[in-house]
Amino acid sequence: MTTAKTNRQHVFAARPQGAVGADTFGLRTTPVPAVEPGTILCRNLWISVDPYLRLKMHDRESYTPPLQIGEPIPGRSVAQVVESGDPAFGPGDLVAIQGGWQDYALVRAQHAEAVDPALAAPESWLGALGMTGFTAYAGLLGIGQPKAGETVVVSAAGGAVGSLVGQIARAQGCRAVGIAGGAPKCASVVQDFGFDACVDYRADDYAAQLARACPDGVDVYFENVGGPVAAAVTPLFNMFGRIAVCGLIAQYDGQQGGDPGALDEFMRWVLVRRLSVRGFIVYDLYKDHPEFTETMAGWLRTGQVVERFNRHDGFDQIVPAFTGMLGGRNIGKSIVRIADPA
Ligand SMILES: NC(=O)c1ccc[n+]([C@@H]2O[C@H](COP(=O)([O-])OP(=O)(O)OC[C@H]3O[C@@H](n4cnc5c(N)ncnc54)[C@H](OP(=O)(O)O)[C@@H]3O)[C@@H](O)[C@H]2O)c1
Repeated sequence: MTTAKTNRQHVFAARPQGAVGADTFGLRTTPVPAVEPGTILCRNLWISVDPYLRLKMHDRESYTPPLQIGEPIPGRSVAQVVESGDPAFGPGDLVAIQGGWQDYALVRAQHAEAVDPALAAPESWLGALGMTGFTAYAGLLGIGQPKAGETVVVSAAGGAVGSLVGQIARAQGCRAVGIAGGAPKCASVVQDFGFDACVDYRADDYAAQLARACPDGVDVYFENVGGPVAAAVTPLFNMFGRIAVCGLIAQYDGQQGGDPGALDEFMRWVLVRRLSVRGFIVYDLYKDHPEFTETMAGWLRTGQVVERFNRHDGFDQIVPAFTGMLGGRNIGKSIVRIADPA
């Protein structure tokens, strides 16, 4: 039995106004929950930090319910089964779960995904083979529908989702153009992830640079950011361009002042260039892409897609990893190792 162990847990302590601060989170110690039939007790090994958590901190309608004060912080993790109340898993098995920012998680076995270390490193279930990779894959292929020879632009191109989107676009025979913050990150997007070009949205002549990087116009825009970053893409669209709205991270801390004319200008381009715009949330699309794991694992094996992790170490590094990712101090997928497999 595991009841002698305790469970450290990050909880939501205060709704941030603007940037997330140290007082946003609190720490609590709870007993490790007892296994019941149909559940598995898991020890978290690697924890994912994701932008949607910042959205959950607002007390307003979104695609995910607002966090309540005192609530444990949710999040994907790769974990090891400690004790099982279900024949599908046994102690020692590796699983991808909604494990939260804590040491131990009790989850229903039917909600756990088996991790096969023969296929890829276990962390990949938080990266290319997990929700992150599926978001890039299904959002680009299912909604962006790129065709060989077209130009695909993606914002937050040095991050977890964006870095994969460009590589998947290249695998379809497209020109991949990234948008990212700062010259070193843009250089990495081209050198490490093989994009054709990457433009620094902080540069004074960002819009002109973007136009030069897209000499044949833009056919697909994979939107991760919104605001002025996106506004520079719209006039470059070719006829019948597609916009896959994945995320709007520039809005997430609620501080960006709205430009009252921006929507009118955007809609003007939607009409003039006959654009299609579709927002998506990753869990809407799983049923459409049963081939995902096999295809992505194949790309990872052949090196057609490379994934990079922004690795942090230790339970006390979860919050810094999260705020660092929101602030752009990551290339690739941000994860935190809090324990090693037994
Ligand atoms: N629809 C879905 O189901 C779904 C699923 C997963 C993720 N998402 C969305 O996908 C996007 C990327 O998520 P991720 O997990 O891959 O994170 P990520 O790209 O690894 O990290 C976030 C990045 O956003 C950029 N950023 C932050 N604030 C910004 C701002 N004000 N303006 C411009 N760029 C900013 C930073 O890069 P720079 O250094 O370039 O600024 C930062 O590295 C997010 O919008 C997220 O909400 C959506």
